[in-house]
Amino acid sequence: MTKIALTGIKPTGTPHIGNYLGMIRPALELAHSYRALYFIADYHALTTERDPERLRRQTYEVAATWLALGLDPREVIFFRQSDIPEVFEFTWILSCVTAKGLLNRAHAYKAIVEENIRQGRNTDDTINAGLFSYPVLMAADILLFGTHVVPVGQDQKQHVEIARDIASGFNSHYGNVLTIPKALIRKDVMSVPGVDGRKMSKSYRNTIPIFADDKFIRKQVMRIVTDSKPPEAPKNPETCNLFSLYRHFSPPEDLEEARMLYLNGGAKYSDIKNKLIVLLLEKFKEGRRTYEVLLNDQAAIEQILKQGATAARAMAKPVLADVRLSIGIDRSDL
Ligand code: TRP
Repeated sequence: MTKIALTGIKPTGTPHIGNYLGMIRPALELAHSYRALYFIADYHALTTERDPERLRRQTYEVAATWLALGLDPREVIFFRQSDIPEVFEFTWILSCVTAKGLLNRAHAYKAIVEENIRQGRNTDDTINAGLFSYPVLMAADILLFGTHVVPVGQDQKQHVEIARDIASGFNSHYGNVLTIPKALIRKDVMSVPGVDGRKMSKSYRNTIPIFADDKFIRKQVMRIVTDSKPPEAPKNPETCNLFSLYRHFSPPEDLEEARMLYLNGGAKYSDIKNKLIVLLLEKFKEGRRTYEVLLNDQAAIEQILKQGATAARAMAKPVLADVRLSIGIDRSDL
């Protein structure tokens, strides 16, 4: 039987090349060897996003990005979380078998509590109950489809472990109902540096968006921070931000040449930046066209997501039916 791979994409911020290298590309590759379910986690975004227009726009942006980068909706079940009512019923059921203490230990929640304490604020300042139970909603996403593997970045590893804990707890009380999932973490692209050298992240404003206009891409690449060594000085490519971005997009021969110039002297940062700009614009040229067409045709995106939701619900229903029966809610009519 083909194993199931599932992952969620939170529609916050405009997708950037860190998302592409760390998540989108590996997930699209994985779709060839697994039954893939990829979805837009709009109700997860609601824990922090209060602007309806932005939530709507970012949902379409994320959907259009994945489709433009090659997600084939005939191969991948591509849907929107809020289109699957089963997720929310299941979230409640799982909440009732989840120890509050397990959620107290979640890194994302703990980090906000600690920051509140540091700032002398009330420990729960700005924390809504949705943010606290975020990992339960995520466990429901994962466990509802009998997921085997969850391709995620390192930052989501704990959330997948929480889903495993919840599933094991459920199973040990109610019998073997749920499939225990496993995180699948890509080590090689674990962290893509942003233009300032920190991890590329929208919260640092150091991203290179995938489909921004040429001018903005050029501007961001030019901002990539390097040391001030002159071209003739030998440099270490492994510790250079610019090189670690360049290596993901450069053809292998050019990369080897650049590596030699770094090591032996002769690597000029501005030349490499210019090459990177050309590579980025070329790489995403076709995708950018598709992206723009799709963004202007929301009905087409809706149709794809709806079709995905129908397929996803067909998988979710029997799992949820088993869950209901096992807990003593005998509703085979739902
Ligand atoms: N929490 C994930 C993130 O912030 C998004 C997500 C929601 C998810 N549900 C999921 C990821 C289920 C994997 C599986 O990126």
